[in-house]
Amino acid sequence: MTAVDQSERTAAEAAGTPVLQATGVTMRFGGLTAVNDVSMSVHEGEIVGLIGPNGAGKTTFFNCLTGLYKPTEGRVDLLGSQIPPKPRAVVVAGMARTFQNIRLFGNMTALENVMVGRYCRTGAMAFTSIIRGPKFRREEEQTRARAQELLDFVGLGKSAENLARNMPYGDQRRLEIARALATDPKLVLLDEPTAGMNPRETQQASDLIFKIRDSGMAVVVIEHDMRFIFNLCDRVLCLVRGEVLVEGTPDKVQSDPRVIEAYIGGAEDDEDEDGTAVDESDVSAASDESHESHEGATE
Ligand SMILES: Nc1ncnc2c1ncn2[C@@H]1O[C@H](COP(=O)(O)OP(=O)(O)O)[C@@H](O)[C@H]1O
Ligand SMILES: [Mg+2]
Repeated sequence: MTAVDQSERTAAEAAGTPVLQATGVTMRFGGLTAVNDVSMSVHEGEIVGLIGPNGAGKTTFFNCLTGLYKPTEGRVDLLGSQIPPKPRAVVVAGMARTFQNIRLFGNMTALENVMVGRYCRTGAMAFTSIIRGPKFRREEEQTRARAQELLDFVGLGKSAENLARNMPYGDQRRLEIARALATDPKLVLLDEPTAGMNPRETQQASDLIFKIRDSGMAVVVIEHDMRFIFNLCDRVLCLVRGEVLVEGTPDKVQSDPRVIEAYIGGAEDDEDEDGTAVDESDVSAASDESHESHEGATE
């Protein structure tokens, strides 16, 4: 990040420019429209929730925001500048994410996983890496120190030397968050950060997301767990069949009959573990299990 970029960012923030502005994002796969004309703005200091039944297009929307997919239509602006749909450009512009299926380097330590996230902000060029001169070593030390700080921040300070694949599932999720934070983002996108977590870990995740917000980042969270989302978010969007069905405060979204209907409607193919369909009480008090397999570190 150059000084010029930094001052541009600050000016945009002062002018009230949203951190994120997605406009008319549409993603089609052949005949299937997974995301249809979705617009969303996120302002500094906001935690925004994205809910909706399985297959609603939530992850696809994140993929469009972060350059994994090139949207069929629409644009994505970060702090007032359009960002090209390329993962690296998106990270450099200041947007970082975690994945619904954890993507860590299983054979690397927790610290090394976070250091990988950091490299997009250090000047370490291939040349200095090969020579391993003093400049390289200095940067490497700074990267290591910053990675340790981030592990402390997410509550994994003591796990720095553990291999990612040996860490408990909840810790792997927090490690992914630390790696995302290592890129110095202005906006963090979390795709089902509490999937597979027990209630205590879920509470810790909630505290961590507030801490991230308090340290100056905006956050967008995809989650199935309604209680978690409504306690956490300033604003919630409910996506159904690729479209925004309702947007508003947690109170507004929670009490909207269309949202309840959307979840019950999805119950035909979304069954609980015991095979019973999800009932209405699950919508307001749900700690709905994610339907994703929890395979953990995979790379
Ligand atoms: N790469 C892809 N190719 C084809 N269809 C896809 C692809 N990615 C997602 N989809 C489809 O888009 C729809 C939305 O999926 P997804 O975004 O994963 O939903 P959610 O995250 O809300 O559960 C689903 O019907 C899914 O099968
Ligand atoms: Mg998803």
